[in-house]
Amino acid sequence: MDLFSEIENPEREELIALRTELEEQNYKYYVLNAPTMSDQEFDMKMHRLQDLEKRYPDLDDPKSPTHHVGSDLSKQSGFATIIHRYPMLSLANTYSREEVVDWLNKLPSNAEICCELKYDGLSISLWYENGQLTHAVTRGDGTKGDDVINNIKTIPSVPWTIDIKDNIELRGEVLLPWSHFERLNKEREEQEEPLFANPRNAASGTLKLQDAREVARRGLTTYLYYMLGDNLPSDNHFDRLQTAKAWGFPVSDAVRVCHGIDEVMAFINYWDTERKNLPVATDGIVLKVNNIHEQEELGYTAKTPRWAIAYKFQAERQLTTLRKITYQVGRTGVVTPVANLEPIQLSGTIVQRATLHNEDFIRELGIQEGDSVWVEKGGEIIPKIVAKESDSPQDGLSAKRSFSDSGLSAEGGLFQFINTCPECGTPLVRVEGEAAWRCPNDAMCPPQIKGKIEHFVSRKAMNIDGLGEETIDLFFAQGLIRNIADLYDLKAEDIAKQERLGDKSAQNILAGIEASKQVPWERVLFALGIRMVGETTAKKIARAFPSIDELQWATKEQLTAIEDVGDQIADNIIAYFNDIRNLEIVHRLQQAGVTFIGTAPTAGLSGTQLQGKSIVISGTFAFHSRDEYKEMIEAYGGKNSGSVSKKTSFILAGENMGPEKRKKAEQLGVELITEQQFLDMLNH
Ligand code: IVH
Repeated sequence: MDLFSEIENPEREELIALRTELEEQNYKYYVLNAPTMSDQEFDMKMHRLQDLEKRYPDLDDPKSPTHHVGSDLSKQSGFATIIHRYPMLSLANTYSREEVVDWLNKLPSNAEICCELKYDGLSISLWYENGQLTHAVTRGDGTKGDDVINNIKTIPSVPWTIDIKDNIELRGEVLLPWSHFERLNKEREEQEEPLFANPRNAASGTLKLQDAREVARRGLTTYLYYMLGDNLPSDNHFDRLQTAKAWGFPVSDAVRVCHGIDEVMAFINYWDTERKNLPVATDGIVLKVNNIHEQEELGYTAKTPRWAIAYKFQAERQLTTLRKITYQVGRTGVVTPVANLEPIQLSGTIVQRATLHNEDFIRELGIQEGDSVWVEKGGEIIPKIVAKESDSPQDGLSAKRSFSDSGLSAEGGLFQFINTCPECGTPLVRVEGEAAWRCPNDAMCPPQIKGKIEHFVSRKAMNIDGLGEETIDLFFAQGLIRNIADLYDLKAEDIAKQERLGDKSAQNILAGIEASKQVPWERVLFALGIRMVGETTAKKIARAFPSIDELQWATKEQLTAIEDVGDQIADNIIAYFNDIRNLEIVHRLQQAGVTFIGTAPTAGLSGTQLQGKSIVISGTFAFHSRDEYKEMIEAYGGKNSGSVSKKTSFILAGENMGPEKRKKAEQLGVELITEQQFLDMLNH
């Protein structure tokens, strides 16, 4: 073969292209926490690259992603870098039961197999020296990782000290339980921050935060599955895990020693369905040779141990028809395309809609109405379209995603995104650099108006009871409200004559509206719904500008001097106050008695109601921030403590209290006090 045909060989080109693509995905997955490829597709491509490298050994390269683990090291992480005493490896994986059987058949006969769940988080190595937790190191590039010990110390089940004096390392997976993940994403949605695609990305983003308090609030958890050290108990893996559990480490109960293929398959079959009831994400089963001497005999490749293999569950996937693409206009005017599907059963639920995110997403998939599409429900809760039928994702590799392959061009293909707002007909705009098309008619476009009102009355904003989405829809349809200021002009008789509402509801709604006039300035600012001004930012701005009269004249320099306020937020605030319609609304709210002047929430407070009490705060709160509750506890003579112990007088328990704290409180019989009970206690 001459040199020319050598270079032209499409498989060799594919090999090089796969390498680049997989390196890029590794970076997106481990560093950015924002993968753009499903795990399964990634694994398939990795297997294909391995095959190609075997076929073309002259192209093999030690730097290839097939030979090293993906790196989570970020350049300016702010964490100390620690060199692993033992490299942190990955696991060979397969999606095929036949390959599991092949692997089992190659083991020494009668080898015991320790079967475990494969937790879908990120790996961590806990170092104990002389009984003390000294480092908690991420996998990094497998050779060195980041020391995230302060963040790991927020996980209640991780012991800070143990009774063992020998140096040992415990490795495991850090996870964000489903319930915490959902809460976090809900908060982020409210604050218009980008959502995490799945709990793994959320856990990874959380573990790399520089703010241990925030990490604690998010509620990470961990399961440990591997012990390392010079002087370890027992010479089998299962017993070591049980010993670790006896020493106080969080080790899963879902670990079994199996003998032979049938027992291993029974374990796999059981957990394939049962894992859906677990509080954390799992993506497969890990099979490990139990005997440590047999493990040593089998040894390691550069990237994985030969004595273990991961069997990964297929993400549930079905073929269906994309009936129609419709468009949804959100509170901020973003127009989101939605796939309306021929209904199908997927992971136990009927799926008939899936988000298509934005124009680029649709173009990349090359789909249009009438196409057969693959829908997947994997680690993410929301179903998504992963490919069109002709791009069969079954083998992962032939999925074509480029415009030319799909027969569509970016400019003039068959698919055309709408150019006017489906709700109000206004021409849409797409800001350069943003993926979204937006309806700019924020003052008159119905879903934007209703969305603003819903946001205004929501719990973290004005907290007006009795006004849900349906009631707002109704009032809007009846022409009773057109903006947030109209709420304060509502009359009991107008409300009472609405369908499904009566005098009682009218009284409740009006009482809620009346009470909202006491809501503090910082929350009113958040409630106004200025773009990108979330709850936390609003608080910071309200502290810097103690009244709206001062804020409305703020210059860009003054605004950007506030922590977390960048150019864009500053511009949004200035634009808000430059719009005469907003000034009119603010004026009407002021006339109605809404609070636009701040008072330090805890200023002037003092008392002895909490004298001598040790109080733990857990969860999220509606009326005050955690910091404010801390100040209050001190102002009333109490002490705020971070962890639950016998000395804890009570726990001030908000929503979504940490499960570990709850468990500990139950064990020790510590009382839980709600936010309202606490405020009552202080006559607040
Ligand atoms: S053992 C040398 N056991 O899966 C063996 N890993 O895809 C080290 N993982 O990097 C790993 N659950 O982060 C092991 N029960 C389990 C696991 C597990 C999840 C993760 C781990 C590893 C990755 C490989």
